[in-house]
Amino acid sequence: MSENSAKMHLFALIIPPGLEDLALSEIRDKNIADFSIRDRSPGVIECEANTKTMLQMTLALKIPTRILLRLDNFKVRDFPKLFKKISKIKWSQWYVSTPEIIKVSANKSRLIHSDKIEKTIREGMEKYFKGNPPKQKWVEKVANCPMATLHAYLSEDIMQISLDLSGKELYTRGRTHVGKAPIRENLAAAFLKFSDFEKASHILDPMAGSGTLIFEAIHYRDPIINKKQAWESFKIFENVNKDELAETAPIQAKRFNANELDKNTYMALQENLSTKTTVTFSNEDAFTFKYPESIDLVIANPPWGERVKIKGGKKDFYLKILDKFKGRRICLILPRDNELPKEVLDKAKVLNLKSGGFPIIYACWDL
Ligand SMILES: C[S@@+](CC[C@H](N)C(=O)[O-])C[C@H]1O[C@@H](n2cnc3c(N)ncnc32)[C@H](O)[C@@H]1O
Repeated sequence: MSENSAKMHLFALIIPPGLEDLALSEIRDKNIADFSIRDRSPGVIECEANTKTMLQMTLALKIPTRILLRLDNFKVRDFPKLFKKISKIKWSQWYVSTPEIIKVSANKSRLIHSDKIEKTIREGMEKYFKGNPPKQKWVEKVANCPMATLHAYLSEDIMQISLDLSGKELYTRGRTHVGKAPIRENLAAAFLKFSDFEKASHILDPMAGSGTLIFEAIHYRDPIINKKQAWESFKIFENVNKDELAETAPIQAKRFNANELDKNTYMALQENLSTKTTVTFSNEDAFTFKYPESIDLVIANPPWGERVKIKGGKKDFYLKILDKFKGRRICLILPRDNELPKEVLDKAKVLNLKSGGFPIIYACWDL
């Protein structure tokens, strides 16, 4: 690492609202200690850390959606000032040209027209790059890295400029086979954490779909090193050695069972988990199949009756699952409108959140 590794940065972990505490306990799990929390609001944890710790988070953390580096903030009430401020930021530390995506949001401010704000930012950056063209060698070196999306957030006339360190959302882990209604990888990681899955020795997903839950369980402690990160194209981090950031500490040995009824989805499931020798696959009806006695955690994302229909109604289907796996810890991802009786829900430890804007619960029973 260069002397840059000691430089302190302000950055924000963007987290699905409701999962902030789980995200913080994930940071502890991964032995990332050298950071301080500067601020916290629903869905956002503002942190300060040195280069190494911040970049380590981009590789190690599975629950946040993205990590935004806070680049600058300034007061602005007119377009000429915005143009001037933007054209004076040293963009060559972060980009080789104006970014493909600039996301603008503006509220309670004199400048409110987001298209015009974006246009002014682009013009300011173009002026900067005209006067400070990047070296061709560097442009070629970073050509296959994703470009950091620039976030421009204007509130009460204060413009905050941030860069997405990863480029693509952190939950894109590069899997190719998906089922009909896959759950997002970062939600799956948070649910596993909520279930205390590391204490279990044999985990079953009886309605595994494309296998997101089991995939996330197996890889919970694996840093994502194969995916190119936007920060790899930042000149300021040119001497950072990515391999040195990726400390691997595998999860404790576990067995997994993945079952799925639908033939096509079952094929995707096998593809996604093909290299995982600890997984036993089955293509059966979850309600009639006989599972090994040793299973101590059942975790499932059953159909919600929306994209994947339920014969006989939600209430009976979910009660049948609870009955089938009685005696083990059972954790289910359900629509908030799940029709389960209150006395059943009262026995569960419940997490309330949204998935793609849709209200859901994650509920764990020890029945
Ligand atoms: C919401 S999807 C699961 C999605 C999964 N979490 C993923 O990320 O891909 C529900 C799955 O349950 C399967 N399923 C429904 N009824 C089943 C049953 N009786 N036995 C086994 N699988 C079943 C469906 O085929 C579907 O793939």
